Amino acid sequence: MRARILSPTAENLETAARELRAGKLVAIPTETVYGLAGSAFDALALASIFETKSRPTFDPLIVHVSPDWGSLERLESEGLILPSLLGPSALESARRLMRDCWPGPLTLVLPKGPRVPDLATSGLPSVAIRVPAHPVARELLARAGIPLAAPSANRFGRISPTSAEDVAQELGDRIDWIIDGGRCEIGVESTVLSIDASGILAMLRPGGTPLERLEAITEAPISTPRRMRAEGDQAPAPSPGMLLSHYAPVKPLLLLEDLAAVLAESQLSALQAKLMERGTRSLGLIVLSGDPDPVAQKLNARLGIPVQARSLSRSGSLTEAAQNLFTALRELDRSSAELLLTDPCRATEGLGFAIADRLKRASTPL
Ligand code: TXA
Ligand code: MG
Repeated sequence: MRARILSPTAENLETAARELRAGKLVAIPTETVYGLAGSAFDALALASIFETKSRPTFDPLIVHVSPDWGSLERLESEGLILPSLLGPSALESARRLMRDCWPGPLTLVLPKGPRVPDLATSGLPSVAIRVPAHPVARELLARAGIPLAAPSANRFGRISPTSAEDVAQELGDRIDWIIDGGRCEIGVESTVLSIDASGILAMLRPGGTPLERLEAITEAPISTPRRMRAEGDQAPAPSPGMLLSHYAPVKPLLLLEDLAAVLAESQLSALQAKLMERGTRSLGLIVLSGDPDPVAQKLNARLGIPVQARSLSRSGSLTEAAQNLFTALRELDRSSAELLLTDPCRATEGLGFAIADRLKRASTPL
């Protein structure tokens, strides 16, 4: 492995800040997932982010800034956004969201300013901005003195990393520096919210900041693809990155129709037929809550093959489930299980929306 995992000492952060200013890439911790950071003002650094991740350039990046840049005025004066293109209601929503949700897991998509290279936004007239809350990310941004474009530090389409070791596994042979900030507290990516000129709010990606919190802050409805469909409206154009399958383990992951613990006999027979057809000899199972062992034993007895199970939260907390989601997927992907099954997540409050979204994207139809 080429990468060095560095503890976040003042000396190491100073080195990382210098590397970043010189156009190099550094993997950094955030409270959501680890990011592969490079100077957002440097088109060459941006190009190497895309290359290192094998990411198609039509999938735009998020620009991370330090808390003292987290206002409309400062973002404008640094050339990152153009608030003059926003009407009064858009400005009011943006102000409230920046005040109440930054630093934190919320990314705002706003009119792009002149200093942002087109490569960062994949040619879009808007730019995604976020102020991370992780103390190491904040200190690095302050030392570097530049905004950092940082997609999740995984190879394209793969599971996002939530520890320095995960980053090493994904990109250890492609980058030099990984700053170790411990395990990510939130565990799923930031919520991406776009604010258009007239003040229409659209959630482009569910994530670490729950929808109901955003609506309470803006006192305005937020469109989501699901709600638009329910209203019979045309869904908003999804952000480019959302068109693709994402967060996928290498092994096939099957999204169960019901919780594994309550699968009906007919569902178990259908599952067994699929497994026999594929010649599957061992299973990995993700259950959303509770003790995974009795469920694994039940499936093992019924299907006649070994089942290794992980519970996302024994106590049934959605916050804890989000925190453990990518780690559980990664562990089962590395295990001897040939095929993975997961409970579906139907919760829509709190982080439930983000968990459901990631499970759906990680899964493959069998
Ligand atoms: O939590 C996070 O947001 C993490 C950490 C590292 O901060 N970053 C992250 O970046 O998840 P990434 O590159 O994996 O996801 C960025 C997504 C894009 O795929 C796209 O969906 C959306 O943000 N996005 C970025 N710029 C956009 C724009 N101008 N318009 C619409 N969507 C945009
Ligand atoms: Mg990503």
